[in-house]
This record gives sequence, C-alpha cells and structure tokens, in this order.
Amino acid sequence: MQHFTSVSDVDDLPALLASASEIAHAPHAWPDLGHQKTLCCLFFNPSLRTRLSTQKAAYNLGIHVMVMNVGIDGWQLEFEDGSVMNGNKAEHVREAAAVIGSYCDVLGVRAFAEFQDREKDYAEEIMHAFKRYAGVPIISLESATRHPCQSLADIITIEAYKRKKRPKVVLSWAPHPKVLPQAVANSFAEWAIAADYDLVVTHPQGYELAGQFVPDSLIEYDPEKAFANADFVYAKNWSSFHEYGKILSQDPAWQITPERMALTDNAYFMHCLPVRRNVIVADAVIDSPASLVLAQAANRVVAAQAILKELI
Ligand code: CP
Repeated sequence: MQHFTSVSDVDDLPALLASASEIAHAPHAWPDLGHQKTLCCLFFNPSLRTRLSTQKAAYNLGIHVMVMNVGIDGWQLEFEDGSVMNGNKAEHVREAAAVIGSYCDVLGVRAFAEFQDREKDYAEEIMHAFKRYAGVPIISLESATRHPCQSLADIITIEAYKRKKRPKVVLSWAPHPKVLPQAVANSFAEWAIAADYDLVVTHPQGYELAGQFVPDSLIEYDPEKAFANADFVYAKNWSSFHEYGKILSQDPAWQITPERMALTDNAYFMHCLPVRRNVIVADAVIDSPASLVLAQAANRVVAAQAILKELI
C-alpha cells in the first residue's frame, strides 16, 4: 500500500482486517515499530475522533506525531498552478507539501468538500497535490469525497458484530439542518461493496450519491422495504450530489426511531459521529444496546494503527 486514500489503495482487504483483529487484541504489541518515525497530521477542518484516534494509534506504535491546523496555525495555501499569488494565500502547496514531507515519514490530511464547484471537489485536488509533492505516503483523514479511516473502522465493527457471513447493511439518509458532504456515505458504500455485504441505500428522491459509489441497483426509495430484515443500519446525512450541496429535505420521518428499527432483524445501529440526537437518531435508539457508535469510535484507533503499521 503506497497511500491510504480509498479502498482501492488497499492491496488485500482480508489481510488488513486480519491485521486489525490482531491489533484489537494486542494494541501494545509493537511499541518500537515506529522508532524514529514521524507522522504529521494536517487539518483544514475540525475533528475530534480522527485527530485523537490517529495520534493514539501512532503512540501505540512508537511513532512521533506533529499536528497542524492549516490556515489557523500556518499559512493559507494556494493549490492553483500558475496563479498570481497577490491575495491572502501566502504559500503554494508545491513548497508546503515538499517541506512538510521532508519533516515526516507519513502525512495525514483532512480537507473537506468546499461546495463551490462539484467537479473540483470530486477531482480531489488537495489530496492529489499532497500525493504529488510531499514524497511520503498520504493518509486521507477525510477528503472531499471519502473518509476511508472511518470506513475501515466501520467494517472492523461490522466484522466483530455480524451474525451471518453476508449481513444486510442499510445505509439510510437522515435529516440534518446543515449542508454536509457526501464523503462518509460514499466511502461507507464503497467499503461495504468491497467487503461483499448485502448493501441497500435508502434516501428521499434527489439524494442519489454519485454512480461511481452507489449504482442505481442498490437504491431502495421505500425505507420500510429497505429496513426489512436488515442486520445493520448505518445512518448518515448528506447533501444532494446532483443539485450539488443543496438541502432538498428535512423530513423528520427519516429520523432513525425505535419504530423504524423495529422493521429490521434486530439490527445494530451505526453512525460515524458527531451526531445530532433526536434529529438524525432518537435517544431511545442511540442509547439502546443495539447502538454501536462507541464501538465504531473505539475502532478508529484500531483502524488507524492497522493503516500506520502497513505504511511504515
Ligand atoms: N467521525 C469522524 O471523523 O469524527 P471527527 O470529525 O470528530 O474526526
């Protein structure tokens, strides 16, 4: 594995999951693997889980960690080639990435969709620029279109809790008052497909994800049909891909409630967090024994450690 920015970077998913299982059972078994290695994490956006779990995973492997909030702690970066830099962006990514790459052995980058231009967001220019100029392996800590560290933690969690070889996994859109990216949903779908789960995606009309992530054959617009016999329900809000960045619905009927969970085969409830209680999910669901949200968050350390172990 050269970089970790999507499931397609993973050479052997079963082997990565086996490594994660070993790590989950003995997280402190490799305290010197990262001796004299340094991880740098750059955040263009806020984070709780990704920031802390990645640091914790690095410490478990003896890796030094540097973290920077780009644009707050450092200079605003320019990504356009050939731009006349007479505005507020003081440094070009060509120099910044090369300099940072000279200080570390692995570089993590979080850069969300900006929602100005769909083609630009989906071209992943920030992640590609760091891959091109840093000269070290890149870990996506969530990009415009994907959140692979979260998705790996989600798959690790499903593997630990599944009651059948090929569980039915429902990715359900849920309402939210703000414009949110499609990254978590896109990424979860591509990892669930790679893991060969029986994936069904349900959402109101207009919330179809990009076809490269969710083919039409996986969409079920009727949530009652989608939830029938489900083993896992993964809730997430996303804004429209086709009417890019628009909120088309805030219908509270899409909230994950005990009534909706009752349609399933005693499904587990999943969400990547942070979550808005009683908007996305009712307290009675997230606080129930069926909720895996804390297990998912704990598995963020396991996932990050498996990725770092592979990359260094
Ligand atoms: N799930 C997740 O990535 O959380 P943070 O945004 O807090 O890192």
